[in-house]
Amino acid sequence: MGKFIVFEGLDGSGKSSQIEILSETLRSRGESVYVTAEPTDSVTGKYLRQILSQSIEKDMHLQAALFLADRIEHVTDPQNGIKKYLDDGYTVICDRYYYSSLAYQGKSGKCDFDWVLELNLGCDKILKPDICFFLDVNPKSCKNRIDRTRDNVELYEKSVELMDNTRRGFAEVLSLLKKEYGHNIVCIDANDDIDNISKEIIKHV
Ligand code: TYD
Repeated sequence: MGKFIVFEGLDGSGKSSQIEILSETLRSRGESVYVTAEPTDSVTGKYLRQILSQSIEKDMHLQAALFLADRIEHVTDPQNGIKKYLDDGYTVICDRYYYSSLAYQGKSGKCDFDWVLELNLGCDKILKPDICFFLDVNPKSCKNRIDRTRDNVELYEKSVELMDNTRRGFAEVLSLLKKEYGHNIVCIDANDDIDNISKEIIKHV
């Protein structure tokens, strides 16, 4: 059974770069690595992308339910699911997982947190990660990076205030999951130099 590694952080926190460095490092050591992300490319994932790009507007409960549906398919798909890869001995690295649902939807103030928690942690099809890295970056730097590198601003990237709220939401969620649910979560100061961050991550892996 392979290990299941999740990366979380605000948009623009540098997850993609760190995932690339980690996956290449593990591959160079001879490990089989499968890199994946949420929302996925499934029909539900594509619907979510429309909501995120703000071309359609949907209720927060519906968003939470769609992310959940996308996640169940992501884990259980018999050909390309996370569980299949883990069973085949791959290390699975996933860009975002239920920590995002708990922070973005659960802590949005627009839907009940305990409901989102129960949907995700109470579903026995949804696997618990072996480790979650939270890349903590100053929301202002994230917003600057997004504005520099993207043409379209997504739903949860609209303002520094919103991103600051999400960051606070993440802090509450990660602390709860660590203390009450025994999750293995490592917060990384991702304002640091890219090489120092990757060294820190590899040390934990
Ligand atoms: P992101 O990592 O930014 O992907 P990309 O760089 O391809 O745009 O994730 C997309 C957005 O989805 C991000 O703003 C957070 C949001 N999201 C949720 O709100 N809830 C969730 O459960 C997940 C997985 C993502």
